[in-house]
Amino acid sequence: MSECFSITAATGSYSVEISEDILTSKLDSTKDQLIICDEMFAPTLRDNESRVIGIVANEAAKSIDRMSSIIENMRQMGVNRNTEIVAIGGGVIQDIATFVASVYMRGLKWAYFPTTLLGMVDSCIGGKSSINVGKYKNLIGNFYPPHNVLVDIRYVETLSVEQRVSGLCEAIKICFAGRSDSFERYLELSPSATASTDVLQKVIYLGLSTKRWFIETDEHDQKERQLLNFGHTFGHAMESASKFSLPHGIAVGLGMLTAIECAKSLGLGADMPQRVSSLRHGVIKLLTEVPELPTWLNDISVDELKDAFFSDKKHTEREFIVVVPGADGYLVRQKMDKGDKNWAIILRALGTVFVSAGRLA
Ligand SMILES: NC(=O)c1ccc[n+]([C@@H]2O[C@H](COP(=O)([O-])OP(=O)(O)OC[C@H]3O[C@@H](n4cnc5c(N)ncnc54)[C@H](O)[C@@H]3O)[C@@H](O)[C@H]2O)c1
Repeated sequence: MSECFSITAATGSYSVEISEDILTSKLDSTKDQLIICDEMFAPTLRDNESRVIGIVANEAAKSIDRMSSIIENMRQMGVNRNTEIVAIGGGVIQDIATFVASVYMRGLKWAYFPTTLLGMVDSCIGGKSSINVGKYKNLIGNFYPPHNVLVDIRYVETLSVEQRVSGLCEAIKICFAGRSDSFERYLELSPSATASTDVLQKVIYLGLSTKRWFIETDEHDQKERQLLNFGHTFGHAMESASKFSLPHGIAVGLGMLTAIECAKSLGLGADMPQRVSSLRHGVIKLLTEVPELPTWLNDISVDELKDAFFSDKKHTEREFIVVVPGADGYLVRQKMDKGDKNWAIILRALGTVFVSAGRLA
């Protein structure tokens, strides 16, 4: 089964294709292409006599300090304005490729093959790059969508349980954020880490078609798209404080649970709308599939968590900005002044989630 649709963006529309075995038809060593890929795929790709830059996918790889050596490498490989970049990898490779394609000789065309479920279901559309600076995650970046997104579903077959759960946490978040029937459709599919490729393909289509509304309505993240930050402000803080042992989507899952706890203290009350209870139940079900979770959480210090939370780029000088479910069960952007009272609410919410996720200390 193959699915195809297009996304309208300020730089022109781009196509998204979800299918099987589409990588080989795209690569052509006689064409002026440069592959930027996750190092795990580089050996096979190099065999094709293609120009390849392989990168080990971790947070250090997407730091600003590493960008100049990639760009120099591109120059030495003869990359020019007509070269097409083909990026193959998860969110780390996508962030790097978006950034270097956008600045190299003031911009090159690029195509993207996401290889993680998180990349397939979420980050491959929307055009954002997020680059780390020092200890600050995703501090800088820009919008530069690929001209072509190709989701080769075969890549899910080699993903670990934690990678699958990470992608599913982003999928449930997007579907919950949507105002259409996406969330009900997600719950009907009831995906888990052991779901079949067929079910995961349906989840990918559902996630991308739901996200499409947000990015076409508000491409540059000024209003509606900000709701997709649900779980991220808390999640990013946990991810940084865990020194990135927590995979991104799993941190977002924990972040959604924290946001629900905060919402209760902010007036949602003890009686959560059914929609929110279903989300909470769905996220907990996904997270219990990850046996390493208590160990990762155990290594987080409260001071580092606080430091990372306070330095989130979405906050203003005086207020925390978080996305929480409102009393009707739909997401709202909530401002909280940075006083001790609100930090205590947040800390209590984080504590509740950590304890329920099996934190030992
Ligand atoms: N730009 C955006 O819109 C956006 C959105 C969400 C997340 N992100 C960023 O993406 C990063 C997280 O990305 P991610 O979770 O996609 O993973 P990743 O790129 O960090 O990769 C995670 C691990 O999976 C491995 N891997 C990749 N594909 C595989 C496959 N098919 N089979 C087996 N292993 C595979 C990688 O080698 C790596 O070890 C974070 O830095 C996050 O900030 C960016």
